[in-house]
Amino acid sequence: MSIRIIGTGSALPERCVTNDDLAKLMDTSDEWIRERTGIGSRYLSTGETVAYLAGKACERALENAGKEAEEVELLLAATCSPEMALPCTACQIQAQIGAGGAAAFDLNAACAGFLFALHTAYAYIEAGIYKNALIVGAEVLSKLMDWTDRGTCILFGDGAGAVFVEKCGESGILGFSQHSDGARGGVLSCAARGLHNPYFKDASEGGFVRMDGREVFAFAVRQVPAAISEALEKARLRPEDVDLYVLHQANKRIIEGIAKRLGVGPEKFPINLDRVGNTSSAAIPLLLDELNGAGRLRRGMTVALSGFGAGLTYGACVLKW
Ligand code: UT7
Repeated sequence: MSIRIIGTGSALPERCVTNDDLAKLMDTSDEWIRERTGIGSRYLSTGETVAYLAGKACERALENAGKEAEEVELLLAATCSPEMALPCTACQIQAQIGAGGAAAFDLNAACAGFLFALHTAYAYIEAGIYKNALIVGAEVLSKLMDWTDRGTCILFGDGAGAVFVEKCGESGILGFSQHSDGARGGVLSCAARGLHNPYFKDASEGGFVRMDGREVFAFAVRQVPAAISEALEKARLRPEDVDLYVLHQANKRIIEGIAKRLGVGPEKFPINLDRVGNTSSAAIPLLLDELNGAGRLRRGMTVALSGFGAGLTYGACVLKW
């Protein structure tokens, strides 16, 4: 038994912000951002919430799969930028789309969140607990950015991507890996609201994303190829057997570095970060939906997904489309 992705969907805010737009707000340039990251523009919320974008992406994934919301048994939302601490984003989506029969909860593994959620759904379905799952990665990270820190705020975009998966008889997921390295969590962090109770008062209202970009870069180029190799080994496949590598879209140079380490040509590594930036947990399903819509994902293809981010968290999944 395994699972197969049978539908994809995505949603972006309306407002597209180019590098030139940002250069009007801070000391940066289109040339610097493109050269160092590959990013040309990103979409930023002007009111769209994580739950709204996630709900839209979920509706589109269900439509693409030819399924009704009432059929969903498990609804997992991966996000690190929810509007509400309670109820969780997955429950808000459930109400929005009418998936009343689903068990719904959130999962936060930052930019690896969608991948970890996919593995969670796989485990539930493989165990026979549920037959299908709707999995969404959604972020409005722009609210967590320090817009005076040009080293981080230029990287991220808002958006959502979703997939519908269901039990399948043949091989779907061929191998996966997932890891966390909490001891190195300080290189990419964001503080939540401080402690405030009758016995202790911490006035902190929460912080902004802080990042050591060089450390994160080095971590990604080293650990992601290792995580992909581990998943490939479990699948008894070689890097060249994979038709498409759908990686977390953080930086074009990171993706090129990973391709080089795996010894695979860059043409197998589709990119959309030039248009949408780094959308954290939404990045992988957003790109999957674009590829699906463009007819670049055909049944029987071998696809490798890989995500990495704050935590530090990282992993990979090799599957038959
Ligand atoms: O999902 C995971 C999320 N995290 C990541 O993807 C981060 C991975 N890391 C990176 O992508 C890169 O480290 C960055 C793109 C963030 C930065 O590139 P870098 O080559 O590591 O640059 P740097 O931070 O070492 O900065 C080099 C110079 C500095 O100026 P000086 O000190 O050399 O004069 C920065 O102040 O570039 C300057 N700089 C900028 N200049 C123009 C930093 N940000 C900007 C900017 N525009 N936006």
